[in-house]
Amino acid sequence: MTNNDKMRRSEGSATGKHAKSVDLARLVEALGHRSIVLVGIMGCGKSTVGKRLAQRLGLDFVDADSEIERAANMSVAEIFSEHGEPYFRSGEERVIARLLREGPQVLATGGGAFMSEATRNEIAEHGLSVWLKVDFETVMARVRRRATRPLLQNPDPEGTMRKLMATREPVYAKAALTVTSKDVPHEAVVDQIVVTLAEHLFNSEAGDASQSATS
Ligand code: S3P
Repeated sequence: MTNNDKMRRSEGSATGKHAKSVDLARLVEALGHRSIVLVGIMGCGKSTVGKRLAQRLGLDFVDADSEIERAANMSVAEIFSEHGEPYFRSGEERVIARLLREGPQVLATGGGAFMSEATRNEIAEHGLSVWLKVDFETVMARVRRRATRPLLQNPDPEGTMRKLMATREPVYAKAALTVTSKDVPHEAVVDQIVVTLAEHLFNSEAGDASQSATS
């Protein structure tokens, strides 16, 4: 399959809608103050896809890990090694809760953020979560390119990743929306997200309208 075939395949949704036909201004309006919150395992493309999605929708893009690094004036790796993971996690909860009050925006979260129930509740209240579901081989190929992730700095990164995916995927599945992608161009994933968001937001608008019509 060529990349173009893959792109065509991933553009269409189950209902046959295409990203190009989505009214983006209406989509952003339907979001209101909510942020689009990307969740998923390391290497699933939250930041890369998130930047492009934000650009497409004319929204700001915010990366929670970068905000944590800015607030602490340290890299994520330094926070893990000097203060430990629990310290990082409580900072992560605080920073994400603060950022969620600044929507609408596209917010990329670190791979462990959605494991916190408090953060999931904050996201449900102030955002719309989208799980970028990507297969093991694709994420491994991506994370191998960068040695910045403290959780994978051990002799068996593949085993660690398998365990993380097994324990986290049932939790990521609690996201409001899921977009499954293989190793396709990022713009194709953005197309899929746009279509999925439109179906969700416009259908709930239709639901609201019929509810108010009957009440
Ligand atoms: C983590 C993922 C990282 C970063 C930290 C912990 C995780 O973010 O927050 O290294 O627990 O999966 P990315 O998912 O952006 O790599």
